[in-house]
Amino acid sequence: MSNATETGAAAPPLLSLRNINMTFGGVRALKNVSFEVMPGEVHCLAGENGCGKSTLIKVITGVYKPAAGAEIAFDGETVPHMTPGIAQSLGIKVIWQDLALFPEMTVAENIAFQTLSGARPRFVSYPKIRRIAEEALARLGVKLDVDRPLKDFAIAQRQIVAIARALVGEARIVFMDEPTASLTQAETDHLLSIVHTLSASGVAVVFVSHRLAEVLEISSRLTVLRDGNLVGVYPVAGMTQSRVTELMTGRTFDQNVRARDVSKNPVVLSVKGLSRPGEFSDISFELRRGETLGVTGLLGSGRTELALTLFGMRQAASGTVTLEGVPAYFSSNREAIAAGIAYLSEDRLALGLNQPQSIADNLVQASLDSILSGGLISSEKKRSLVARWIADLGVKIGKQEDAICTLSGGNQQRVAIAKWLATNPKVLILDAPTVGVDVGARAGIFEIVARLAEAGLAIILISDEVPEVYFNADRVIHMEKGRIAGWHDPRSTTLKDMEAAVYA
Ligand SMILES: Nc1ncnc2c1ncn2[C@@H]1O[C@H](COP(=O)(O)OP(=O)(O)O)[C@@H](O)[C@H]1O
Ligand SMILES: [Mg+2]
Repeated sequence: MSNATETGAAAPPLLSLRNINMTFGGVRALKNVSFEVMPGEVHCLAGENGCGKSTLIKVITGVYKPAAGAEIAFDGETVPHMTPGIAQSLGIKVIWQDLALFPEMTVAENIAFQTLSGARPRFVSYPKIRRIAEEALARLGVKLDVDRPLKDFAIAQRQIVAIARALVGEARIVFMDEPTASLTQAETDHLLSIVHTLSASGVAVVFVSHRLAEVLEISSRLTVLRDGNLVGVYPVAGMTQSRVTELMTGRTFDQNVRARDVSKNPVVLSVKGLSRPGEFSDISFELRRGETLGVTGLLGSGRTELALTLFGMRQAASGTVTLEGVPAYFSSNREAIAAGIAYLSEDRLALGLNQPQSIADNLVQASLDSILSGGLISSEKKRSLVARWIADLGVKIGKQEDAICTLSGGNQQRVAIAKWLATNPKVLILDAPTVGVDVGARAGIFEIVARLAEAGLAIILISDEVPEVYFNADRVIHMEKGRIAGWHDPRSTTLKDMEAAVYA
């Protein structure tokens, strides 16, 4: 056996595209793009919103027909005219962002849908459908009650159902288009482990995301698009988050670190030896007035669990917490809010904001007490409170009554921050505040964070993107498996060194 074979260097690509051009009206969504996926690899397709990721997937699956001159090959064979039917029969599967499932049908029926909608659906017995579904789920190492209607399940489980459905029949390559956009950290973790399982079983996975931490954690190679152009294809080994951001945005980091010396400021929050078995242990730190304390670490390092405990949504098993010198143990988040702790949840999309509700209703949700008049909500007080925060945080809206879902990710996040500032907190915990916010709009969020800190608010900034804490925090805690693995001062370390420590 030659060396080339042993290392796999000579293996032909599973999927290969050349010279892909795609135009919508006047917009050139893809310009001479090429793309390649090796058998069984996890490949990330990354780039800012609107750069052409979904369009490329639609070309690959025959939903869109690219301009003349395009070449698509699968398993070494040219595919002159890709169609959704051909893609399906080649084993090219896609988990679309909206999942395209049927809420009223059972999990089993959703997974075996292809079989059901085949030539003679009435000859397929339910036990057979159930068996197909259970086999597909077993391949993912997941157990679900397949007889229950899909609508009983949360978004993360629905996504697993969509993946299981993709595995029915032969799957050679699975595309996942922004699958973590509305998942919590724990759900994301689980999804990433499913991706590993799939890849280990020989199925190639193309993971579409603009979340840097995920991109680096999950994939072995990375293709970056910008404005419809191919920026390049890179091995992930040795890649840093700051480099990926540069590739995606075309902008280099000429940013300065914001870190200041806050060691003379009075302590606001003091945490000593805080532990919750299985989640985090022996966490100690002091948070000072005007300080932004960064907390980073890989997915599953216990950061969110720590935040939820400080916010009263979970209880610590041991350790002490004091807020301005007073013991601070809360049995609910209501108590925490009343005491002056605010928590912007990592899953703004699922939990933090109520998407169909208006901008105004979302904004006042945590501070209703302040707009009561004789026990009822005063519409006048509400309107002026909302107007004040919208102006203060520079949120771009039409009317206060518009549904929050009509705003961009960046503007939604500003409303979510306003919602917590309206509670007049002493400590603001921001958990992954740029998730779902375009790379370009993130700077605006951090301008707000800097301004709040300058005004004296004590802030805990949690992020799995090391550059975010490096550039925006005064000090950084690095967590690993529930423990503090290190402290960093951005003024005396480089971004590269900090990233190396976190990814060691
Ligand atoms: N069906 C369509 N009609 C018109 N323009 C489209 C259509 N689909 C995508 N575009 C445009 O093509 C560009 C790339 O979009 P898309 O592939 O959805 O980006 P991404 O998935 O990377 O966010 C954007 O400018 C988008 O507005
Ligand atoms: Mg897309």
